[in-house]
Amino acid sequence: MSAQIIDGKEFAANVRSQVAEHVVRLKADHGIIPGLAVVLVGEDPASQVYVRSKGKLTVEVGMNSIEHKLDVDTSETDLLAVVDQLNNDPAIHGILVQLPLPKHLNEDLVINSIAPAKDVDGFHISNVGLLGTGQSSMVPCTPLGCLMMLRDHLGSLSGLDAVVVGRSNIVGKPMAQLLLGDSCTVTIAHSRTKDLPDVVRRADIVVAAVGRPEMVPGDWIKPGAVVVDVGINRIAAPERGEGKVKLVGDVDYASCAQVAGAITPVPGGVGPMTIACLLANTLTATCRANGLPAPEGLTA
Ligand code: GUN
Repeated sequence: MSAQIIDGKEFAANVRSQVAEHVVRLKADHGIIPGLAVVLVGEDPASQVYVRSKGKLTVEVGMNSIEHKLDVDTSETDLLAVVDQLNNDPAIHGILVQLPLPKHLNEDLVINSIAPAKDVDGFHISNVGLLGTGQSSMVPCTPLGCLMMLRDHLGSLSGLDAVVVGRSNIVGKPMAQLLLGDSCTVTIAHSRTKDLPDVVRRADIVVAAVGRPEMVPGDWIKPGAVVVDVGINRIAAPERGEGKVKLVGDVDYASCAQVAGAITPVPGGVGPMTIACLLANTLTATCRANGLPAPEGLTA
């Protein structure tokens, strides 16, 4: 058997075009233009690439993009002042502080200083609590993207066995909450899980988010299961020439694709969904801030 490939690039483009249509209507019917502010502290090259890409796609869907680029040695007080100013700016509906922050800054403190209604990352402790209690919240972008692709592929997830491999605050834990919200039977597995292969073998849905290249082999996968690979790992690729690297996920794609019913590739699977869901969250935040219903199909 060969798995159906879930094309995240195409899916993300579709999400962005739905967001763009909503933005046109918000502007025409209510005179509202969603505004997304991204705060970048320092010059981490990977973060600079992310931020540039976010800004470009934000403008492409018709939203206002505001970037605050701060020196690497910006004090916590100064950073909190920037966040406070954005919290109080009615033209800003979403705020994202790019992580990781330089070591001298307390990430939890900074994230929890963002107004929860503008926390489009869904990292604020209030949003974590709302999600955990099944209440309306801002949902972290990567797990939201995974959920959208799973719903699209499977229809109802109710009653399915789901295993999330990885327990991070950004992906593993919120992913498990979302799957539980869709009535899956959910297991969170991690590096200390006993009999990990057998745990994964029980799953109809496997979400791999451990950050270990090609850790999940095909013989851990139940035939026909849906495999969602969140990992983005850069590894040496001597077969492509000296010093060359390639991107691989947390699952061994070649062997898993032989067994799974469907699988997300790396690159081109979950990756493009993260920014698409950031834009969807910014739209949701804008609607809620203006007493309008959240856009259907673009929220959890
Ligand atoms: N750094 C890498 N990914 C992300 C993300 O999704 N949100 C934030 N705030 N920082 C990141």
